[in-house]
Amino acid sequence: MNDAEQRVVKKGDSIELEIESLAFGGKGVAKVDGLAIFVERTIPGQKVLARIVKKKKSFAEAYPLEILKKAPNEIEAKCPAFGTCGGCRLQNLKYDDQLLEKTRQVRDLVQRVGGFADFEVPTALPSPTAFHYRNKMEFTFTPSPWRNHPDDEDEPLGLGQHIPGRFDKIVHIETCYLQKPIMNEIMNFVFAFAKEHGWEGYNNRTHEGWARNLVLRYGEHTDEIMVNLVTKTYEKEHMKVFTKAIMSQFPQITTLINSITARLSDVAVGETEVFLHGPGHISDRLGESDFEISANSFFQTNTLQAEVLYGEALKGTDLKGGEVVYDLYCGTGTIALFLAKQAKKVYGFELIASSVKNARRNAKAQGFENVEFILGDLKDVLSQNVDRIEPADVIVVDPPRAGLHQNVVDDILKVGPQKLVYVSCNPSTLARDLKLFCETDYELVSVQPVDMFPHTTHIETVAQMVKKATA
Ligand SMILES: C[S@@+](CC[C@H](N)C(=O)[O-])C[C@H]1O[C@@H](n2cnc3c(N)ncnc32)[C@H](O)[C@@H]1O
Repeated sequence: MNDAEQRVVKKGDSIELEIESLAFGGKGVAKVDGLAIFVERTIPGQKVLARIVKKKKSFAEAYPLEILKKAPNEIEAKCPAFGTCGGCRLQNLKYDDQLLEKTRQVRDLVQRVGGFADFEVPTALPSPTAFHYRNKMEFTFTPSPWRNHPDDEDEPLGLGQHIPGRFDKIVHIETCYLQKPIMNEIMNFVFAFAKEHGWEGYNNRTHEGWARNLVLRYGEHTDEIMVNLVTKTYEKEHMKVFTKAIMSQFPQITTLINSITARLSDVAVGETEVFLHGPGHISDRLGESDFEISANSFFQTNTLQAEVLYGEALKGTDLKGGEVVYDLYCGTGTIALFLAKQAKKVYGFELIASSVKNARRNAKAQGFENVEFILGDLKDVLSQNVDRIEPADVIVVDPPRAGLHQNVVDDILKVGPQKLVYVSCNPSTLARDLKLFCETDYELVSVQPVDMFPHTTHIETVAQMVKKATA
């Protein structure tokens, strides 16, 4: 592009744009004279009037002012908070088309960033249910809920979700279509109780207020329900009243917790937990394994689709029964235990002590004797242990969004397993890491996206690599 064309678009301009595709992360992409313009809250096929809010040499960002033409495959979003709530950015795109867009993003990154030109990526595996699939939702109280319209009245309390990019702005939600209907009923009951009893929503700018979060969990295979109210202080007498009210309305709640935290940071985790009813955890099943899930345990949020994801990982390992497997970034050991029945031995590696504790307890409760969990930061802990433990035939990795630390890539190459399975929640870092392995000792066999989070912009992927005969 020459300088004259570069100046066609400048910050503050309002221009008409045709959205051509969806970038990873969920922004629509339009092109003006070859310049990519990322437009938030848009989908491919729409024509919009948008204001340029950022202009760089190689791209620009814009905010939609008006939708001038709908996309041919655009549908009415179910949720009244659509467009304001940060959760379901793609709810106005038909589900089949969401799958195609997510697949295209993974394919593009694998081919362009990974350098696997023409590598075929099959369509993302759909979630068994596109709504009501989440087994955990976290809502935030606020003393000043977001007004959707300037004429709306100020409300003294709200309970809902963050507005994208705004840590202090919460839109009140009455029905979240990602969670089970019973969880919506409980959420509305808690909100009505809170209003009636004058609870003050926590203000995370001034740090005043009392009620912070409501976290709900549901056992997909057990129907057990956890309600976790996060507050700044423990008000014993009031919690007795609350417990009596909620338990008589919803006797099916199996665990009621009051988590207490005066920490300034906005995370729904208590320093202290008071069990108001039940054992303080719920249980659920993945495949044939049972898991105990406490208030702060990491557990895949779409249970049914997690079984599909782990099934893909198992397929990639191609276990025959005699293999030693390393499960890197194992969390509470869900993948490790999913694989343990078909392996000789599984070693799980994880940074968080409470997750390792849960993993050991889960393995013991199910009578697994061929599983060992090792605590530590993977950038060091793999190399520290390889001489002590049996060498791996197969390694499975499931890292956080940042992908693999270079030390981990180097250590895996040193261990040199025959098969390498990469479970990823970020196709950009997946593509980067696949390139590192396949430039040297490995060959890419398959890449399968799995849609764990319908209507959101997230996508999981399972990639399988095998050691080159020459390596
Ligand atoms: C995407 S989760 C995967 C968890 C598990 N595989 C599952 O499916 O439930 C990533 C895990 O990596 C752990 N983790 C993050 N950084 C780590 C590090 N540097 N070393 C070891 N584990 C780490 C996190 O605590 C988390 O449990």
